[in-house]
Amino acid sequence: MRLCVLGAGAVGASTARLASEYGHTVTAFADSTGAVVDSDGIDVDGALAHKERVGSVGESDPSDALAAEYDALVEATPTTLGDAHPGFEHVEAAFERDKHVVLANKGPVAERYDDVVALAEASAGELRFEATVAGTIPVLSTIEGVGAERVNAVRGVLNGTANFVLSRMSADGLGYEHVLAEAQDLGVAEADPSFDVDGTDAALKGAILANVIHGGGYSLADVDVEGIEDFPGSALEVAAEDGRTVRLIGEVTATGDIRVGPRLVPENDPLAVTGTENIVQLDTEHAGRLNLSGAGAGGPETATAVLADVTRLD
Ligand code: HSE
Repeated sequence: MRLCVLGAGAVGASTARLASEYGHTVTAFADSTGAVVDSDGIDVDGALAHKERVGSVGESDPSDALAAEYDALVEATPTTLGDAHPGFEHVEAAFERDKHVVLANKGPVAERYDDVVALAEASAGELRFEATVAGTIPVLSTIEGVGAERVNAVRGVLNGTANFVLSRMSADGLGYEHVLAEAQDLGVAEADPSFDVDGTDAALKGAILANVIHGGGYSLADVDVEGIEDFPGSALEVAAEDGRTVRLIGEVTATGDIRVGPRLVPENDPLAVTGTENIVQLDTEHAGRLNLSGAGAGGPETATAVLADVTRLD
């Protein structure tokens, strides 16, 4: 496949770096404001160094990259809320040219799912977005395999940064600001880390899961969200005395309610994953509960989900 990769952050750059190992070619690689490189044989590290030198290419836009020849658009620009601009317009431009679209950017499918699905249905291109939920974990392809209509409810740890903060605070007694800075150094936090700790990122993933399971109609506005930014470290100590801990849990219920918030869980519960790990529990009609866990964030890790989607395209 020839890939147009939009987004020069951790996931976009890792996707461009790993593409050839998976047998694909990157024909354009651009950030959200302008083309970093637009030629055959992308030198990703050179392109990123060029970006450092010239700064953000604000006077340009990625339309040159989108107009180039490619088979699939990989949209990995930062997630934005509401109208999901400019990611949504990138998706629209690709589908109008009958290209495939693989999303790492959550905005289009969390905030404008029905519009994106309508664009995909009117196009010869195919839509995939495994990387938008729980990083490397094949949650959406598992739901596809089980049948979305046979998944009754979903819950899990959907944000690696918040999980890293909570688990490191409780295991090592470290302060919130210190641990959040560590998560940023690891490259797992969002461009704006307040999305991680205020619950927005997990809520967007909840909206995506609800859209997939319940057939669309959901956005961030439908999620009841509480974050961990004001969560007292002392509450973790009290929970530990009782053999319990606290995790930021997202859930989609059988009736279509979506909730995100800190919850008490037993220390030996499958939901008590540590570090940047995520876990997703699918309650299915005939197969009982499926527990899927693994790396929920990180550039190369999440790029494997993007490239798995590319491999699945017809
Ligand atoms: N910042 C996100 C996280 C990355 O920490 O889980 C994956 O969406």
